[in-house]
Amino acid sequence: MNDDIEKVLYSREEIHQVAQKLGEKITTDYADKDPLVVCILKGASLFMSDIVREINTYCEIDFMSVSSYGDAQVSSGAVKIIKDLDVSVENRNVLIVEDIIDTGRTLQTLVDLFDHRHAQSVKICTLLDKKERRVEGVQPDYIGFDVPNEFVVGYGLDYMGHYRNLPYVGVLKPEVYSN
Ligand code: XMP
Ligand code: MG
Repeated sequence: MNDDIEKVLYSREEIHQVAQKLGEKITTDYADKDPLVVCILKGASLFMSDIVREINTYCEIDFMSVSSYGDAQVSSGAVKIIKDLDVSVENRNVLIVEDIIDTGRTLQTLVDLFDHRHAQSVKICTLLDKKERRVEGVQPDYIGFDVPNEFVVGYGLDYMGHYRNLPYVGVLKPEVYSN
């Protein structure tokens, strides 16, 4: 599996450091706000577990599963809810935790949905921001790394369901796609 990786972009240590920094900021920003921290499955699961352990104030966590890509590498534009939240967002300060923002379509849809459900506030924390590809006006509030326009895997991110368990973010070798 590791042989399929062309280069490592962000190591486990770098990701932990960035999660610590973001967690400190979130702790300050959300003191007394009892945020609902929402993990977007499956990609954000690893980053979520890092982030919530760095939030040093009261919060609730919940999980949502949406699909925008299927197994393809290009956004279809449509976002389907596969698993909705258990907790109501009404009057809550929602913090969405995502693995990567690409076109921004997924996040734009979720922000609109939570607004429609009368969340008090909606903010976004993303491990990776692929700014170059943005088509929606989504602006994340907490960003781990600005990532170049390359298809990345690891630390929750997959290619055809694999590589989520890699403890770092890396770029796949081109020959892996053509197989
Ligand atoms: P949009 O375009 O809606 O896409 O912002 C966000 C979702 O697209 C997936 N995505 C990727 N997944 N490597 C991946 O493994 C990538 O480089 C990549 N770019 C986008 C991802 O699921 C994210 O939630
Ligand atoms: Mg995702």
